[in-house]
Amino acid sequence: MLKIGVLASGRGSNFQAIIDAVENKKLKASVEILITDNLSAFAIERAKKHNIKHIFINLKDFATKDEFFKRIANEMKSCGVELVILAGFMRIVRKPLIDAFPHRIMNIHPALLPSFPGLHGQKQALDYGVKISGCTVHFVDEGMDTGPVIIQAAVPVLPGDTEDTLSERILVFEHKIYPEAVMLFSEGRLEIKGNIVRIKDHPQVSSNIVNPPNR
Ligand code: GRF
Repeated sequence: MLKIGVLASGRGSNFQAIIDAVENKKLKASVEILITDNLSAFAIERAKKHNIKHIFINLKDFATKDEFFKRIANEMKSCGVELVILAGFMRIVRKPLIDAFPHRIMNIHPALLPSFPGLHGQKQALDYGVKISGCTVHFVDEGMDTGPVIIQAAVPVLPGDTEDTLSERILVFEHKIYPEAVMLFSEGRLEIKGNIVRIKDHPQVSSNIVNPPNR
C-alpha cells in the first residue's frame, strides 16, 4: 500500500480530500505523516482528528532553505513515505527534497497551468478575463508550478465571479482530481517521458467541460 506524506501550510482541505479518499477506500494508500511549516495551520487539526502523525518544522531553525528541505526529506524517509503530496504548501520546494523523491512529489494548483502560476491563480485568471480556468495536479520540479502535468479539470469563469466564488467552484474539482491523481500513481499508471505524463489504460479523466449545446 502506497505510503503518503503531506506538506501543508494552511487550511488543508486538499489534505482532507486525500484523507477521505483513503478512509472511503477509494484510495489504497496510507497517510503516514503531515509536516507543516506553520504552527497555526488548520491542517494540524485534521491530522489530530484522524490520528495522523504531524510535525511542525520551522524554517527559522535552519541556516539555509536547503537544510530545511533536507530535514523534511529525512522525516518523510524515516516514515517510509513513497509519495509526497503538497497540499497548500506555500514554499517553492528545493533540491534536497526533490532529489530524495524524484517524480514522487505532487502539487495542486488552482489554475490551468502553465497559465497563472504562483500565488492567487484564481485572481490572475479573473483579472486576465479568461472564460475557462480550473486546476492542475502536476509533479513538482524546482520551478514554481512547473513540472509535468498529471491531470487537469476545466472550470468556467462566470459573469459576476469574484476571487472567492471562482476559488470555491475550482476547489470542488481540486478535491476530486487530487485523490484521482494519487490513485493513478498508486496503481502505477503514470508514465513520465520528459515533460509528458501518459496515463496508462485510462480515458481522458476529469474532463468536466460543459457539453456542447443541443442542436
Ligand atoms: C488550494 O487552492 C491549492 O490549489 C493551492 O492552495 C490552496 C490550498 O487549499 N495550492 P487547502 O489548504 O488545501 O484547503
